[in-house]
Amino acid sequence: MALKLLSKLRNQNLQITRNRNHHRLVDAARFFSEQPVSNLSTPDDSKFIIKNKQQTTTSSLKQHELAKFAAISDTWWDSEGPFKPLHNMNPTRLAFIRSTLCRHFSKDPNCARPFEGLKIVDVGCGGGILSEPLARMGATVTGVDAVEKNINVARLHADLDPETSTIEYCCTTAEKLVEEQRKFDAVIALEVIEHVAAPAEFCKSLAALAYPGGATVISTINRSMRAYATAIVAAEYLLNWLPKGTHQWSSFLTPEELVLILQRASINVKEMAGFVYSPLTGRWSLSDDISVNFIAYGTKDGQ
Ligand SMILES: C[S@@+](CC[C@H](N)C(=O)[O-])C[C@H]1O[C@@H](n2cnc3c(N)ncnc32)[C@H](O)[C@@H]1O
Repeated sequence: MALKLLSKLRNQNLQITRNRNHHRLVDAARFFSEQPVSNLSTPDDSKFIIKNKQQTTTSSLKQHELAKFAAISDTWWDSEGPFKPLHNMNPTRLAFIRSTLCRHFSKDPNCARPFEGLKIVDVGCGGGILSEPLARMGATVTGVDAVEKNINVARLHADLDPETSTIEYCCTTAEKLVEEQRKFDAVIALEVIEHVAAPAEFCKSLAALAYPGGATVISTINRSMRAYATAIVAAEYLLNWLPKGTHQWSSFLTPEELVLILQRASINVKEMAGFVYSPLTGRWSLSDDISVNFIAYGTKDGQ
């Protein structure tokens, strides 16, 4: 799948280079700009999209998805519980974030607090398992989640450590933050877009939250057969890593679709990497293989 995407891009004479960390630099903007996309909203979205008549904001909320997270909110910090895969992936996704944001903001990735001076919003922060290390790396972090129970867990846990007690947690959505005219240097939404009602609208809100020239990082699961076999059948039904029904295959986006909807939201994807799991070591690592789990870093147009 990754090879197919890369060869498609090559055929279009687009820029694909490899940086020192072996991440792919993908500039797919022109290729994808006019392509139709089938999965930018799911057929049943209309049931979940809440139009706020006074403020004309389209809600990203999908109530049945939020109910799933509310039901297991007390397990966020159980590293052997339903969020074990996210705990295990955390060092790898943080490595990608550290490397891309340090390059973007000309920061030293080897210092203890490379994100000092950066305002970062973690959209769909859950219990805060990404927000906390970002704060420890020096960022001024705002974590938002649509599920109040998640925010309560995140707040309680962050308050245990002075380095993380500074995190601002709010039970809200990206679109509400846009209405409040909040702006950040970097906007991060990991493993959230596959749970929202309208991915394209959600990406527009993420883009609106970034300062011009700011950075965005999004991770999700590819709508590939391989993802169906591993992220759903194996992870939910055979290995019981995740509660059954956590993911809907039809809600996944392909890397091409994500690049396109981000580009339409004025975010240019600069780099993409896959996460691969080794059953031998039990660890995740960054890879060129974007056929299942992948992460993308982009920049918002403007200075
Ligand atoms: C799979 S979890 C990911 C948590 C966190 N980003 C991480 O990777 O550790 C998805 C989270 O997104 C939240 N969520 C889903 N839809 C949302 C929305 N429209 N706005 C804000 N949060 C949302 C859920 O409540 C849940 O906590």
